[in-house]
Amino acid sequence: MSTGDRLRVAIVGLGIGMAHAAAYVALRDRFVVRAVSDPDDARVAAVTGWLRDLTVLSFDEVCAADDIDVVDLCTPPYLHLAQIEQALRSGKHVVCEKPLVASLADLDRVAALSEATGRRVMPVFQYRYGAGLQRLKAAVAAGVTGRAYTASVEVGWRRGPEYYAAPWRGTWDGEFGGVLTTHAVHHLDMVMEVLGPMASVSAQVATRVNDVEDEDCAAAVLTTADGALVSLVATLGSVEEISRNRFCFEHLSAESHTGPYDHATEPWHFCPTAETSERFAAVEAPSVRDGFAGQFEGLHAALVDGAPLPVDLDDARRAIEVVTACYASAAAQRLVLLPLEPDDPAYRGVRP
Ligand SMILES: NC(=O)c1ccc[n+]([C@@H]2O[C@H](COP(=O)([O-])OP(=O)(O)OC[C@H]3O[C@@H](n4cnc5c(N)ncnc54)[C@H](O)[C@@H]3O)[C@@H](O)[C@H]2O)c1
Repeated sequence: MSTGDRLRVAIVGLGIGMAHAAAYVALRDRFVVRAVSDPDDARVAAVTGWLRDLTVLSFDEVCAADDIDVVDLCTPPYLHLAQIEQALRSGKHVVCEKPLVASLADLDRVAALSEATGRRVMPVFQYRYGAGLQRLKAAVAAGVTGRAYTASVEVGWRRGPEYYAAPWRGTWDGEFGGVLTTHAVHHLDMVMEVLGPMASVSAQVATRVNDVEDEDCAAAVLTTADGALVSLVATLGSVEEISRNRFCFEHLSAESHTGPYDHATEPWHFCPTAETSERFAAVEAPSVRDGFAGQFEGLHAALVDGAPLPVDLDDARRAIEVVTACYASAAAQRLVLLPLEPDDPAYRGVRP
């Protein structure tokens, strides 16, 4: 491990990787970005003009470097599996953007290699790092909310030709799925953080907004293990962009604000019953930073202090499983029950 418990990071891919860099800089007492890798010279120039003492390396050089602890993969999805495997085999811990890999089979392959190499893999789900969602989670953990009845998720984002200019976007081979896999997966992760994994899925998908291969509209009805009902609508054609997560419990309703890209943060609207309001007011939520920095704080605690990873391969597994089940349901026009076992054809991935 690095000197002074500052973890030495290499960021590979400098699109959203720039936002990762900003988060590591905000946590400069715990991380130092030692290297970046990207074939796009303009993007490299943008980061080297801003971060000092940085080495520009190829991906192979990142893996071979002995002064890197963590390889942070922000590359297009179709590169993730091979890059995760090479980094793990090189003795690095890995952070990897969503979608981690294309299927449950690939996820299990990564988990086995992580186990064999003794190196950790942290998938990215930074949307859950917001004080509103954290307060709700704390209320559930404190037993204040009672039974969950329903949850609803709205994803109204907007994407057009400029977004799809990168050749991998909008293709099954490049990004493994559209609005469900690439965007709504954050909102579903937030639901599962509060209510646990899903038990059944019935979904429809459509491509109506852009001329692309994968879906840009989706609707689904899901159930949790104890029978709560969840609805989802997601589109990449919303004129006004919003995100919203809403939960109805026996003793509390909770609703996020509608900021499209930060709706886990406060202010949330919480409405406890009269009998519950005192107990709800006494709930203490952990103080976490928003977004990537909140997740990376947990990464440092995991790798340096031995805490559990803040987001782990089981979290990626339930996310891949639920979106896979949506595609399987839409393709077969039937209800899909979870978990998806290795003998299920969808375990190796689905292409509607
Ligand atoms: N968590 C989030 O909120 C969030 C937001 C955006 C994107 N993402 C995910 O991040 C990943 C990247 O998406 P993006 O929007 O940044 O895409 P992007 O196309 O803007 O950036 C990807 C970068 O990777 C570089 N790259 C390609 N091959 C490389 C290689 N072999 N080695 C090093 N660099 C390489 C490209 O030159 C490009 O600069 C995707 O998996 C995407 O789903 C997550």
